[in-house]
Amino acid sequence: MGNPVVTQPFPITDSLILLNKAPSITDPAVNSLNPITPGRAVVSQLGGTRVVLSRQSGFELNVITFNCQAIPGILNWQTCDLHISICRLPSHTANMAVLLAKDQPAGFTNRIEKVAIVGAGGQIGSVIASALLQTGKYAVTAITRPDSTNKIDLEGLNIVRADHSGDDDSALVSALRGTQALIITMAVTAPRDTTAKLIAAAAKANVKYIFPNWFGHDPANDSLCNDSFLTQMRDSVRAEIARHGVSSHIFLACNFWYEFSLGGGADRFGFDFQNKSLTLFDDGDVPINTSTWPQCGRAVASLLSLKVLPDDENDKSTTLSHFGDKTVYISSFRLTQKDMFEAVKRVTGTTDADWTITRESAEQRWKEGMAEVQKGNFAAFTKMLYSRMFFAAGGGDYESKRGTDNVVLGLPVEDLDEATKIAVRMGKNGEITRTH
Ligand SMILES: NC(=O)c1ccc[n+]([C@@H]2O[C@H](COP(=O)([O-])OP(=O)(O)OC[C@H]3O[C@@H](n4cnc5c(N)ncnc54)[C@H](OP(=O)(O)O)[C@@H]3O)[C@@H](O)[C@H]2O)c1
Repeated sequence: MGNPVVTQPFPITDSLILLNKAPSITDPAVNSLNPITPGRAVVSQLGGTRVVLSRQSGFELNVITFNCQAIPGILNWQTCDLHISICRLPSHTANMAVLLAKDQPAGFTNRIEKVAIVGAGGQIGSVIASALLQTGKYAVTAITRPDSTNKIDLEGLNIVRADHSGDDDSALVSALRGTQALIITMAVTAPRDTTAKLIAAAAKANVKYIFPNWFGHDPANDSLCNDSFLTQMRDSVRAEIARHGVSSHIFLACNFWYEFSLGGGADRFGFDFQNKSLTLFDDGDVPINTSTWPQCGRAVASLLSLKVLPDDENDKSTTLSHFGDKTVYISSFRLTQKDMFEAVKRVTGTTDADWTITRESAEQRWKEGMAEVQKGNFAAFTKMLYSRMFFAAGGGDYESKRGTDNVVLGLPVEDLDEATKIAVRMGKNGEITRTH
């Protein structure tokens, strides 16, 4: 641990305060960077601070804060002890792009102008489509099934009905032609082979970037994905995209959606607003990342507004190509169940006495859920999935390990109580589907 310093929030360009306290660096690859170029600091409101050295280096100082104490009178500033370690950057943030805009053929445009989205009438799809349109930067096409009864009502959205279930993908390919990015947000109940068909059509139409159906877990955490039945889906989508050799995938790791999960019943974050009951998993003090729908929408819109490629060798800006075949990590909040409960009590004006609080072992819940799913009872899937996320050091808090891309994407710090109010309303009114 280092000496106490003020760490939150410090200006994004000011990483020197931490660099001065860096431990000796022994990795020869890092020593070759001598002198170390200060880069940019990325600070989250609730912990998991990290400092990037330089994008070319591929390394960063990872800073974990301890013993944080609020500074009276200064909101969000804390005095903390630090543990600083050096580690490799997530590979998308290292500047590994070999393609440069200046080398592209005539007619190449170094920005995304045309985007297609599957599921634009859905829960996350509608938010992403709306965020894309709000930027005014993209022509956005919603691809919807010919027999869909979903209402997609967004001004400026081009709607195309195209089958993505059968063998004839001509309508789909034609809808995708000229599109640079495809975002797939399909219901979890969609047939598994639909994604492969969309990927194949995107390859035929030369779509360069695909956001596969994911929008959740940290795909780099094998044990979390294995225990959550997600590995097969993750690997098949990657392999399928790679097999065609045309598109790059980009996973959005946002973890569980906050409003949806807090308001979505006891099987999710443990809250039942209709019965005012809370199930704490273990002691309710395991932090996890969670993101609101608007934050997910902003993340995708912002990512696609990056330059596609660096202009030339001297262009060190972050480009979309940095994220190709990688994961974008975002987060609205890093919270324990107890943090959520405090927010719920604030916005509902209730106290502990108004709630029935029980405790269950997260591991036991996960085992029970898993046994049910293995017997074919998919109603237990949600309980299994959420319980696993709350295992101590189980990967639900990816921010402390990997940092997030919030700053690179210009994502705002959000108001926890405002988001909690929305979740409480949704929970009380039973607005959330029970599918996942
Ligand atoms: N992080 C989280 O907490 C969380 C929670 C739930 C889901 N997710 C992820 O987000 C993705 C999108 O979920 P969502 O809840 O936003 O989806 P959704 O609203 O349930 O459905 C999105 C769209 O899927 C299409 N669809 C519905 N049934 C289909 C079928 N049988 N075959 C093909 N398409 C069908 C519909 O589009 P059209 O009618 O226009 O064709 C629908 O609007 C999921 O697959 C999952 O990966 C994450």
